[in-house]
Amino acid sequence: MGEILKNKHIILGITGSIAAYKAAYLIRALVKKGAEVQVVITPAGKEFITPLTLSTLSSHPVISEFFSNRDGTWNSHVDLGLWADAMLIAPATASTIGKMANGIADNMLITTYLSCKAPVFVAPAMDLDMFAHPSTQQNLDRLRSFGNHIIEPTSGELASHLVGKGRMEEPDQIVAVLETYFSTQSQLEKKKIVITAGPTYEKIDPVRFIGNYSSGKMGFALAETCAQQGAEVTLIAGPVALKTNHPNIKRIDVESAEEMYQAAIKAFPESDAAILCAAVADYRPEVQASDKIKRETEGEMTLHLVPNKDIAASLGAIKRDNQILVGFALETNNETVHAIGKLKRKKLDFIVLNSLRDAGAGFRCDTNKITIIDKKGHETVYPLKSKQKVAEDIVNQLASSLK
Ligand code: CTP
Repeated sequence: MGEILKNKHIILGITGSIAAYKAAYLIRALVKKGAEVQVVITPAGKEFITPLTLSTLSSHPVISEFFSNRDGTWNSHVDLGLWADAMLIAPATASTIGKMANGIADNMLITTYLSCKAPVFVAPAMDLDMFAHPSTQQNLDRLRSFGNHIIEPTSGELASHLVGKGRMEEPDQIVAVLETYFSTQSQLEKKKIVITAGPTYEKIDPVRFIGNYSSGKMGFALAETCAQQGAEVTLIAGPVALKTNHPNIKRIDVESAEEMYQAAIKAFPESDAAILCAAVADYRPEVQASDKIKRETEGEMTLHLVPNKDIAASLGAIKRDNQILVGFALETNNETVHAIGKLKRKKLDFIVLNSLRDAGAGFRCDTNKITIIDKKGHETVYPLKSKQKVAEDIVNQLASSLK
C-alpha cells in the first residue's frame, strides 16, 4: 500500500464539528503518503479550526468562499471537482450530509461536491441522537445510492460526554479506507467483469413459472462497485425490479437459466473475471405448454423437470489461468463442506458463502453475512454488513486475486 496515495489529488471538505481538529492529523497523514490535499471548508468549519493551520499543513490556500475577499478571484468549484482523484468530507455534519443529499448548494463545499466526478468519501461526526435520527439515516442512504462511500462513525464518548455512535473514524483508519479503495481501483481499472444476478424463471406455460426468492440486490451492488472502481461490467440479470446506475455497466436482461447461460458463455472468453451471483434454477419443465394449462381434473398434476446447465461449472471448464471465477453458495447446513465442494467442482478461485442460519443473511434482505473461502482453503469470516459493504469486501478480494 506504501505508494498508492502518491500524487493523488484529494479534496478535503471540512465542516462545523468539534472533530474538525482531527482534519489536521488527516492532512498530515495524507501528505506523508505523498498525496496533494486541497482543503475546502464551510463557514461553520472555520469556527472550529483556522484556515491558517490547514493551509500550512496542506501547503495550499484554503478555499471557503466563492470569491476571495482580497482580490476578487473566483474560486472555481468545477475546476476543483475535475482536479480531484477523490473528495473526502471529514468531519461531515448532519447539516452538510443533508445538503449533499438534497443538492442545497449554498456553500463552496457543496458546489464542489456537486461538480465532483471523482469518488466521494464521507466521514460523519455528530452526537449519537443526531446520527440515529431517521432524517440523518435517510440522507446517508441517499448518499450511498449516489455511489458515495460512507465511512461509518465509531462508538465512544462524544463531545457532549454522552456515549454512543457518532465519533468520526480515526484519521489513520480513514487513510486506510482511501488506500484500499485506490489499490482495488488500480487492479480493476479497465478490467472486463461478467456478473450474473437475480433469479431465473423457468416457464411452465405462458402464465406460470418456477422461480426463487433472489432479489438480485447482491449482484447489482457488485456491479455498481466494480463499475465505480473503473471496471467494464457486463451484468446478466434475471427478472428483477432493480435499476442500474453506472454508465460502465452493460446490462443484459434474461429470463431463463438457458438464456443466462448463453449470455455468460458468450461474454466470458473476453473477460478478466466472472462473478456468479445469480440463483440459477437447477431444473426446468421438460415441456413448456404453449397454452395455459387448465385444471381439468380433480387429480394430481406432475411436472417433469430436466436439469439446466451449470453456468459456473461451464465457465470453470473453459477458464484460462489469468481469469478469475467467483461463485456463491447459500447453504442451510454443513455450510463449509458444501461450499468447498462447489469451489472445487466448479473450478472457482474463491467462493462467497452465506448461511440461511445467520439472521440478516441471504435472500430478500438488505444485509448479508459472508465467509470467503479461496482455492487454497483460506477462510475469511466477515461480520453482518449492508449488501453495499459486502460488495466492497468481495470486490477487494477479487482485486487481490487479479494481481
Ligand atoms: N450456478 C450456476 N449455474 C447453475 C447453478 C448454480 O452458475 N445452474 C452458480 C451460482 O450462481 C453460484 C454457484 O453456482 O455461484 C452455486 O450455486 P448453488 O445453487 O448453491 O449450487 P448448486 O451446484 O446448484 O448446488 P445445490 O445442490 O446446493 O443447489
